[in-house]
Amino acid sequence: MPFGLSNRVKEIAPSPTLAIDTKTKQMIAEGVDVINLSVGEPDFNTPKPACDAAVEAIYCGFTKYTAVPGIVELRKAIAEKLERENGVTYSPDEIIVSSGGKHSLYNIFVAIINPGDEVIVPAPYWVSYPEMIRLVGGVPVIVETDESTGFKVTPEMLSAAITEKTKALVLNTPSNPTGAVYSPDEIRALAKVIEQHEFYVISDEIYEKLLYDAEHLSSAAVSEGMKKRTLLVNGFSKAFSMTGWRMGYVAGDRAIIKAMTSFQSQTTSNPVSISQKAAIAALNSFDPEMVTEFRRRRDFVLRRLEEMPLIRCIEPQGAFYAFPNIADILGKSYNGQTIDSSDTLAELLLTESKIALVPGSGFGAPNNIRISYATSMANLEKAMDRLESFLKNVR
Ligand SMILES: Cc1ncc(COP(=O)(O)O)c(C=O)c1O
Repeated sequence: MPFGLSNRVKEIAPSPTLAIDTKTKQMIAEGVDVINLSVGEPDFNTPKPACDAAVEAIYCGFTKYTAVPGIVELRKAIAEKLERENGVTYSPDEIIVSSGGKHSLYNIFVAIINPGDEVIVPAPYWVSYPEMIRLVGGVPVIVETDESTGFKVTPEMLSAAITEKTKALVLNTPSNPTGAVYSPDEIRALAKVIEQHEFYVISDEIYEKLLYDAEHLSSAAVSEGMKKRTLLVNGFSKAFSMTGWRMGYVAGDRAIIKAMTSFQSQTTSNPVSISQKAAIAALNSFDPEMVTEFRRRRDFVLRRLEEMPLIRCIEPQGAFYAFPNIADILGKSYNGQTIDSSDTLAELLLTESKIALVPGSGFGAPNNIRISYATSMANLEKAMDRLESFLKNVR
């Protein structure tokens, strides 16, 4: 390293999910039979109308710069979707499209956080929130939750975390990594607390369509007061199996969208033109079969976990993750090696049992591990057999 790195970048922890995924893919490339339960992407194809629209865009020469926040046609289509499915009204200039939900979130933090501002992040959290907040000089205020509240913050827990420095709350429902879904009543109860204060709600709704016996209510739809405070984040990666197309968006206050657009204009410019055309077609191509299949897999994984020793798992109501508790395993050993953390457990499962899953530590939940069931039933069956025989050998 000839001339050193910036202090800012030195402090970033790399994404643990992507690190495991990379290691797993390397093992698979070397011919090792690893089952990958670490990925956060659906194993379905992008809907055909989206692919067709992209091909047409390429051949029609729609391959140049577009308006920075995305073409009006796409922002109108998103506004219609938000009205139709979420019951909230936005105009196209209250929407900005970026290169994936992750990019949307980072742009929000840049636009609203000053150094020292606090952002309340309920744990277990998606790995990138605290890192992004720190990157822009903000202070993540972690509110721990566990199985006793279904991994959800209660109004009391939220109240206790609010200070005069609070600038925003991150609310992710359905949740990665827990699969928890706030019911409409729970969202309304949190809104009662939030409406007494002046801070933003960054509402990450990227898994909103992947629900099992649960209902999704956007914070923005609760009241005018909540709409004013909410920056609604969504994207195409999960519901439309479009992780590689990099399409995410934010709807919210016009002035913030304008500020985000200025920032985006000086950093990444418009999101990919071809992906924008695909996204318009995708909005009307959601396949409910995906939910049926994920539910089947979720039920299977839960049933198998229930039969295993030393592990317990609450029922996820959304997304495609199970988040079992492994506290009873910690301190025990496998083949003479002490399992002192969820990281050691994940490492052993990868090297000894050839199952890749993500330790809870990166999600602020050291007593849990994340299993993604976005893989085939055949893989899940094999993986659950391997996990069970591993656990039977933990002493
Ligand atoms: C909770 C959550 N938010 C946002 C994202 C960002 O997704 P993308 O950048 O692919 O749109 C992810 C992806 O894993 C996620 O799990």
